[in-house]
Amino acid sequence: MSKNYAVIGLQWGDEGKGKIVDLLSEKIKITVRYQGGHNAGHTVIIGDKKIVLHLIPSGIIHGDTKCIIGNGVVVDPYSFIKEIKELHGFGIKTKGRLFLSKDAHMILPFHSEFDSIIEEEIRGEQKIGTTKRGIGPSYEDKAGRRGIKLSSLYNPEYLKKEIDYLVKIKNIFLKGINKSTLDSNKIYEDIMEIRDELLEYIADTFLIIQKAKENEDTILFEGAQGALLDIDFGTYPYVSSSHPTVGGIYTGTGIGADTEIDVVGIVKAYTTRVGKGPFPTEAKGEDEKILRERGKEYGATTGRPRRCGWLDLFSLKYSVKLNGVKSIVLTKIDILDSFEKIKVCIGYKYKGKMLDNFPTESWILDRVEPVYEELEGWRTSTYGITDYDDMPANAKNYIRYIEDFLKTAVSIVSTGPDRKETIILKEF
Ligand code: IMP
Repeated sequence: MSKNYAVIGLQWGDEGKGKIVDLLSEKIKITVRYQGGHNAGHTVIIGDKKIVLHLIPSGIIHGDTKCIIGNGVVVDPYSFIKEIKELHGFGIKTKGRLFLSKDAHMILPFHSEFDSIIEEEIRGEQKIGTTKRGIGPSYEDKAGRRGIKLSSLYNPEYLKKEIDYLVKIKNIFLKGINKSTLDSNKIYEDIMEIRDELLEYIADTFLIIQKAKENEDTILFEGAQGALLDIDFGTYPYVSSSHPTVGGIYTGTGIGADTEIDVVGIVKAYTTRVGKGPFPTEAKGEDEKILRERGKEYGATTGRPRRCGWLDLFSLKYSVKLNGVKSIVLTKIDILDSFEKIKVCIGYKYKGKMLDNFPTESWILDRVEPVYEELEGWRTSTYGITDYDDMPANAKNYIRYIEDFLKTAVSIVSTGPDRKETIILKEF
């Protein structure tokens, strides 16, 4: 049986998954996205070119890799077409290599309007800090059995009826808050205009994936966001509306449980979070500034400054178990180069007692006191190092500390954004 890989972020997203997926893609026949939508932002740097992918798997950069957007993803058809055009501009071919699951649900333009209205006008102070890409509202409609699947495009008559029903429900809400209502004919006509283009990519991806499995082609499952943004296991309600964790692979692709998948957990050498929600190891003042500026911690999708803090090993222990992580890829270690002391969180104290597991309740997380271990910094550049032996001793200690605490091996250390700026400790 062939071995397959899942690349999953173990923090709150932005761990640097894009580069690692891109790195592994050279050995991979087929790359599959299984959840989320164009809220993700995977930056891939190749030489002097920078490509930011939001919806399409990073594997597309490699000429012969097949890429699949699975049924668990929510697809904004307009963004999809825009992204394809951008790729074509880079000379990257998409036809015959990129497939959209017929069972994936659409994000329609009003979903992002709803996202904004709910955040700004209804939640207000309690807002989640979403990307406003309509992700939550689209998943809501999917679960509410009023969503529009891409397969509806096969049958325009059926599509029209489904849009009419969905719009009827949406308009009840809009009328209730005195907003102008939606015109279902317009939504239908607009989507019909790009129907042919979309149909070129829509496929029964279940069959493609099963065929790859039969052929023993190595499959790479590309997670978006991170484990702590999982709708069930994350810091609810400050989460995304999908399952970035390993379970999402099974429901989001139909791969079947008899498939061997090695989970590669991506961990940034410190922690960041975009949007609202608890963040126990958030740094303050100069430390946060150094992390943000050195790490260029600004959202790839929204440009928002990311909140920055110390590595939280206590939450990582939870994420490692939750996903059954086989090995860890540690990214952006060079961002810590200038610190004299580096803090790592090894536990949470709540009401005077140490907790035995990561709490998902945001009201507890807001009150926990992180317990830190202080490690010696290395105060020399690790940028671009490719050989582990060239790493300063304290950076090696940092890596070893992480491995010991998480009882999981670090297989790759990333020392810069370029593909080449990588230390491979264990070949995949
Ligand atoms: P949504 O996915 O747009 O609904 O946003 C929900 C939460 O997930 C917000 O805190 C977002 O900032 C966060 N989020 C969504 N996508 C990403 C991502 O790709 N990286 C980091 N955070 C994300």
